[in-house]
Amino acid sequence: MDTLPLKALCLLVIVIGVASSGSTMMEESKLKVLSSKFKYHNHAHRRNLLDNGLASTPAMGWNSWNHYWCSVNETIIKEAADAIVSSGLAKLGYKYVNIDDCWGEQDRDSKGNLVAKNTTFPSGIKALADYVHSKGLKLGIYSSAGTYTCSKQMPGSLGYEDQDAKAFASWGVDYLKYDNCYNDGTEPTVRYPAMTRALMNAGRPIYYSLCEWGDRHPATWGAIVGNSWRTTGDITDSWDSMVTRIDLNEAYAEYARPGGWNDPDMLEIGNGGMTKDEYIVHFSLWSISKAPLLLGCDLTSMTADTLEIIGNKEVIAINQDPLGIQAKKVRWMGDQEVWAAPISGYRFAVVLVNRGPWRYATTATWEDIGIPEGTVIEARDLWEHKNLPTQFVGNITAMVPSHGCKMYLLNPVG
Ligand SMILES: *[C@@H]1O[C@H](CO)[C@@H](O)[C@H](O)[C@H]1NC(C)=O
Ligand SMILES: *[C@@H]1O[C@H](CO)[C@@H](O)[C@H](O)[C@H]1NC(C)=O
Ligand SMILES: *[C@@H]1O[C@H](CO)[C@@H](O)[C@H](O)[C@H]1NC(C)=O
Repeated sequence: MDTLPLKALCLLVIVIGVASSGSTMMEESKLKVLSSKFKYHNHAHRRNLLDNGLASTPAMGWNSWNHYWCSVNETIIKEAADAIVSSGLAKLGYKYVNIDDCWGEQDRDSKGNLVAKNTTFPSGIKALADYVHSKGLKLGIYSSAGTYTCSKQMPGSLGYEDQDAKAFASWGVDYLKYDNCYNDGTEPTVRYPAMTRALMNAGRPIYYSLCEWGDRHPATWGAIVGNSWRTTGDITDSWDSMVTRIDLNEAYAEYARPGGWNDPDMLEIGNGGMTKDEYIVHFSLWSISKAPLLLGCDLTSMTADTLEIIGNKEVIAINQDPLGIQAKKVRWMGDQEVWAAPISGYRFAVVLVNRGPWRYATTATWEDIGIPEGTVIEARDLWEHKNLPTQFVGNITAMVPSHGCKMYLLNPVG
């Protein structure tokens, strides 16, 4: 990292800020400090293939894969929709109910149409969309930019982009996850935009989720093609898998922006493979990283701990912040890490993570976060739901449990 020139730039900006009198100038200088630390691509793009107006904040919802894999059916989808409403999660912003792989028959019909599997989706996708819409929610579906989907139990959409996009739109589908299995070796930069164009011509706004696994660095081309792009291979329900995904995803932080987000894969919270503290780290890092928040557990049998984690309004608000700047890992010392992101209203979110085996003190300095030296900060603990009693100047330190984190919203007060 080019920290030296960066520091010089920050200092220069601070000096200019102090020398100017008007508050507008002060605001501008603060913004310059931010953009020198968190460069990000919020400029208008050349020609946006995907001008669908969706994903001004990261998508929130649920997907069947992480819990049900191929054993999915229309009852499971309907019950997930019911549970997202009855649990109160819909009110917190979770709105997409997404079917993953294995929803279709092995073969297309005589006219080349995809067909819902008659044993597991006997009512068809249109009826399911109507049901999900009647709950005030949105329905997502799945296909692959290849000849089959990953399960190989149904056809993919390669070569059928227009026909399939029109079918999805006619059924009332609101979201497409588009996988990368059984492709013909054509570059993803060719296969994925073919579906972008098809969706744009389908007559219905459909959120487009690229599931290209990060192979050809989709962050660098995804913003004009999709509303989010996977930066990694699939997550599994373990600490190592989870932290590996968010680390890979972090490398592309500067490419995230309203309308297009890095996607480190869906959430495993509630599936049982991690401790409560580990799932809190999972939710905190996904939220501060502006990742889509797609739940992956059985919503009909959530524990109180699961609901407490995925229902944390204050952490969700960091994810859904209108500024839309993805966090960076701004410092790491052995197992101790500091993740930080600017938040609207000239505030900052910070997550102190302890990856080590013992409880340990972790410190974030204002320099790490990009806060001007000398700024007085009030901190709110977003997991304790409490403002800390003391103010902070220069740094904030906390004891963090093993495989745990602290998450704060920092508010400059002087
Ligand atoms: C389901 O589809 C298969 C193959 O297309 C067909 O053989 C079978 O009769 C259908 N079953 C029902 C219940 O419609
Ligand atoms: C859907 O799956 C559930 C759980 O395996 C099962 O109880 C139910 O009968 C299935 N329904 C259909 C329509 O296949
Ligand atoms: C943190 O701030 C305190 C109080 O200003 C100061 O005494 C301490 O040296 C600082 N620690 C670090 C690691 O910067």
